[in-house]
Amino acid sequence: MDRAEKTGLTFAIILLLVFFSLIVYAAKGLKIDIPTCVTDVEPFQEGKLIKHGEKRYELHILARMWFFDFNKGATEIKIPAGSTVDIFVTSKDVVHGVHIQGTDFNIMAIPGTVGYMRVKFEKPGVYHVVCHEFCGVGHHAMQGKIIVE
Ligand code: CUA
Repeated sequence: MDRAEKTGLTFAIILLLVFFSLIVYAAKGLKIDIPTCVTDVEPFQEGKLIKHGEKRYELHILARMWFFDFNKGATEIKIPAGSTVDIFVTSKDVVHGVHIQGTDFNIMAIPGTVGYMRVKFEKPGVYHVVCHEFCGVGHHAMQGKIIVE
């Protein structure tokens, strides 16, 4: 190994150590984490729509074979346009995928864990909620509606 090679190798090793230290610093010092939408909320057994105030809601979606329980068994809910909704999702049985069409909401419903995302429904209309993870014979029919009026 000649001098140039040694210098190059040393430089590469130093660079790796610098990168590694920066990752550790970001994780510990700056508390930067891998993005996750999984929460530490206790899984729930029933769908529920809770009104917290004027155009502020909390929605617990319980996915199950083969429908979405939005509110005590209802597969359809109505909210006023401009509502901000904190949406929590879990599954009662197998893994389902919850996508609210026309929004960025696309979260897996996994038994034993609760997923979360906030959605603001600006435009009035019917937002179809579909399951996009194959979950058995009723998968294709698994859907619900969020009506924004
Ligand atoms: Cu639930 Cu597919």
